[in-house]
Amino acid sequence: MTIPTPTSNGAAGLGGGAIPGLPDEATLARLAGEFFAALPGAPEGQRALPLLQGEGRGEDGVLRTAPSPSLDPIPHPASPLKGEERLGPGVPEAYAAALPRVSLPQPPVAAPAFVPGSAHYFQGEASPHLAAAPLPEAENRVAAQSFGLPGEAELHGFLADIARERAPVPESPAAAHGGSFYFLDSLESPGRAPEAGPTARPPFDVNAIRRDFPILAERVNGKPLVWFDNAATTHKPQAVLDRLAWFYAHENSNIHRAAHELAARATDAYEAARQKVARFLGAASASEIVFVRGATEAINLVAKTWGAQNIGPGDEIVVSLLEHHANIVPWQQLAADKGARIRVIPVDDSGQILLDEYRKLLNDRTKLVAVTQVSNALGTVTPVREIVELAHRAGAKALVDGAQAVSHLRVNVQALDADFYVFSGHKVFAPTGIGVVYGRKELLEAMPPWQGGGNMIADVTFERTLYQPAPNKFEAGTGNIADAVGLGAAIDYVERLGLENIARYEHGLLAYATHGLSRIPGVRLVGTARDKASVASFVLDGYRTEEVGKALNEEGIAVRSGHHCAQPILRRFGLEATVRPSFAFYNTCEEVDKLVEVVRRLARGKGRGLG
Ligand code: ALA
Repeated sequence: MTIPTPTSNGAAGLGGGAIPGLPDEATLARLAGEFFAALPGAPEGQRALPLLQGEGRGEDGVLRTAPSPSLDPIPHPASPLKGEERLGPGVPEAYAAALPRVSLPQPPVAAPAFVPGSAHYFQGEASPHLAAAPLPEAENRVAAQSFGLPGEAELHGFLADIARERAPVPESPAAAHGGSFYFLDSLESPGRAPEAGPTARPPFDVNAIRRDFPILAERVNGKPLVWFDNAATTHKPQAVLDRLAWFYAHENSNIHRAAHELAARATDAYEAARQKVARFLGAASASEIVFVRGATEAINLVAKTWGAQNIGPGDEIVVSLLEHHANIVPWQQLAADKGARIRVIPVDDSGQILLDEYRKLLNDRTKLVAVTQVSNALGTVTPVREIVELAHRAGAKALVDGAQAVSHLRVNVQALDADFYVFSGHKVFAPTGIGVVYGRKELLEAMPPWQGGGNMIADVTFERTLYQPAPNKFEAGTGNIADAVGLGAAIDYVERLGLENIARYEHGLLAYATHGLSRIPGVRLVGTARDKASVASFVLDGYRTEEVGKALNEEGIAVRSGHHCAQPILRRFGLEATVRPSFAFYNTCEEVDKLVEVVRRLARGKGRGLG
């Protein structure tokens, strides 16, 4: 391995020789390549690595691997060395994240040279602090330690139990339309040995992952925090916290305006985040990604732009009974303004959308179908691909609310054929206050802006204003630059774990929780669709939901109890509130055991004193 050593001018050059006992560069490069190629869940032929520096998708959506010429002369601010200098010829920069960390004396960080006109300062960044910046050993957490380690021994026992006990369930329409890898039955088919199921191969080491999330070490009421409120918001890995700190320490500036170094850094970091979102969603182009505050603002943007332009008197907007208020109220407001009508797709007793009833609602007045991909209150995974297809056949556009989906399922907006797809960053391990509208390019281009001001204009006179093309047209004023960059880091993080691995692990966790809760006398699970993600809503006989929430909080367990901003779907089940544990990949079976124990204690009538 080549050791970087400081040169007299503070920049680093190549120096030193091999470290005794360590493999040489070529071996390390080969090992890194094999390591990534062997990541569990990585689709065949698809690299699990984030894009390398210089890679990106063109406007045509084609992945380009040729480094941008403008990158070459510009050192990363966190590392004065380029990939080849650090690792030897032919070793890409991003492979650094995969290589064993060796404590080396770090050279001073050279100030990055400003290259006028460079728009690619951080383009394709792969969380620079992970890929290149000198970090303490403890911070190199997710890059290598989280993959391929035993993490599921604890799942095998309960999976065996479940496989024995579970009754057959009917075929789900959603299973036939994508994503069936995620669902309970792929694990729990009666008679299937656990070893044959997807969890036979450990997806990752949950304990290593937990160390990436500092807040998980908190104590609440003297007990270790158990965070089962992931549907409300998720916690942030150190990688995201570090990225935010790095932004404010090294890049902070307003974007797109001033021709100075920090403006270039901030702009490039922000646009790199947009590209990451585009890749994450499978969008054809980064120009289809608009940054907003969150999913709620995203839906409001579509309602107030596309909706205002395209919905008229007598038109119909179809939503499902599962929707969060954020996917109901903006459409109601629009319908009231325009004299349009809201139609509602009913659900069955399990909480799954009734596709036949949906079909009956569609007609030539239907202009928009707006549905959630995963219900926040019940966890139902809806058959969105089929819903979108049916909407299109009726001549309507389709908006998918992905707020509860993106942290649990691999999403591809082109495969879904969605016209709009929205999500919130904070539900996918990114900061609050940043979210996304994906809009099909031709729709965004045809839509009017919704807010006026700086950044979104091309030219202003007192007589008229010319607007920027999308996405800038929809981003008036100074946006949430740092948190967009943080969202990019969060996407890097989940991509490193792999959505497929996350889905597989959470699938087991949900099965375990469902199994544990369902065996407690007096517990009624609310939302029992076959296709579910993350959420195990329930009520307990003899207790108000807030009493259960309070008892759980006494034990350090955070759940949401209430209506979850989804009153219509709870009322479908005769309820005003549920207790809603919701899981993420950093949760464990031991945490589920604690939840089940408290609920069981309450059910036995011994928990009253806890409240
Ligand atoms: N939408 C968030 C939830 O479901 C706030 O809790």
